[in-house]
Amino acid sequence: MKIAVIGGGGREHAIIKKLREYKEPLQIVAIPGNGGIALDAECVAIDAKNIPEIVSFCVDAKIDYAIVAPDDPLVLGCVDALEEKGIPCFGPRANAAIIEGSKVFSKNLMKKYGIPTASYETFDNKDSALLYLESAEFPIVIKADGLALGKGVIIAENKGEARDAVISIMEDKKFGASGDHIVIEEFLTGVEVSVLAFTDGKTVKPMISSMDHKRAGDNDTGLNTGGMGTIAPNPYYTDEVADRCMKEIFLPTIDAMNKEGRTFKGCLYFGLMITEKGPKVIEYNCRFGDPETQVVLPLLESDLLTIMKAVTEERLDEVEVKNSDKAACCVIMASAGYPVKYEKGFDIDIPADVLPDVYVAGAKLKENKLITSGGRVLGVTAVADTLKQAVKDAYEKVDQIYFKNMYFRHDIGEKALKILEK
Ligand code: AMP
Ligand code: GLY
Repeated sequence: MKIAVIGGGGREHAIIKKLREYKEPLQIVAIPGNGGIALDAECVAIDAKNIPEIVSFCVDAKIDYAIVAPDDPLVLGCVDALEEKGIPCFGPRANAAIIEGSKVFSKNLMKKYGIPTASYETFDNKDSALLYLESAEFPIVIKADGLALGKGVIIAENKGEARDAVISIMEDKKFGASGDHIVIEEFLTGVEVSVLAFTDGKTVKPMISSMDHKRAGDNDTGLNTGGMGTIAPNPYYTDEVADRCMKEIFLPTIDAMNKEGRTFKGCLYFGLMITEKGPKVIEYNCRFGDPETQVVLPLLESDLLTIMKAVTEERLDEVEVKNSDKAACCVIMASAGYPVKYEKGFDIDIPADVLPDVYVAGAKLKENKLITSGGRVLGVTAVADTLKQAVKDAYEKVDQIYFKNMYFRHDIGEKALKILEK
């Protein structure tokens, strides 16, 4: 079987490594992949947003099944375009990917169907947004409507910061057309949990819960990043919280999308805040999270491709999604200066016995050697019986890896371990 995986980060590397556990050998092509993925699959240099080229490549290469992993191609209709050519896919069609592609859409969906989320208002012009801020309470959260490379969310501590955010998004167009509409919403307090769930539009089967560490610096200081490390399971996601999430959020979301004529098939990511009043949705993503995938898939005991195909064929109820009772930790090794400015092009040394646990996010292959090519460079994952051991093992692996100007957080998992020790 010939499989195409669209995307080129650590998440896609984790998906491909997991696919390799399939009972038969698979021919896997990554589009565009990266230097690390090239060690595990063939890579084809087509931009993940170039839908026409992806489609013509997949047709010519006689791809049997495509997995579309990143948000951009999903929102741009990559699945629709491949399906039109008769290639079955894993991932939502564009009309369902809008759940991530438009925050105005997702907030209105939640309001209409009573799914718990922060209270909010939407705006399509700057002046009414600024007027609203005059009588608002702070902190407050300002979100550009569309995709903004994960940077379209601003938490404003006071009126001045909030006004600056509105002006930069709506007037200066910091995120382009993504800022034509904005959401201004209530600031929620609590703990964040990520849940990635398979769904075929009828059945929802969650994978293990996880916790991202979004800030660049130790103890949650510094700028927001794409994610500096993850652990799973998330100790705040108790059985009781999980039950509530299934009843109050997961199933109602799937029903709501069906009622809107936008059946969601693929991996739906629930970014949740566990507040004093119960779980609320912070955001939906229409895809596997990154770097959540790098801890969630290593803890998935069932076969990934079998589940994905069941999702595509709308028979998820027939397959098992079994999560391990072990724990995992992924530490992201980045280039110093990320997420702002950083140098690239440095040799990466990884001992051969550590390589299987490394998910490459930003590296190229040059004369068969990995060299840094991005802000986030590697994700290093360990699985163990306890979270404490997984964290220790992940950092032991990190200590064996070297590249110039490498940077990583030293406290991935600490918050979770404190909860477990209570
Ligand atoms: P997002 O890009 O939607 O993942 O948002 C980035 C981060 O902003 C989230 O992971 C939260 O930490 C934070 N955030 C977003 N919305 C809220 C909210 N309403 N209240 C508090 N924090 C939020
Ligand atoms: N880790 C959050 C995301 O994938 O957007």
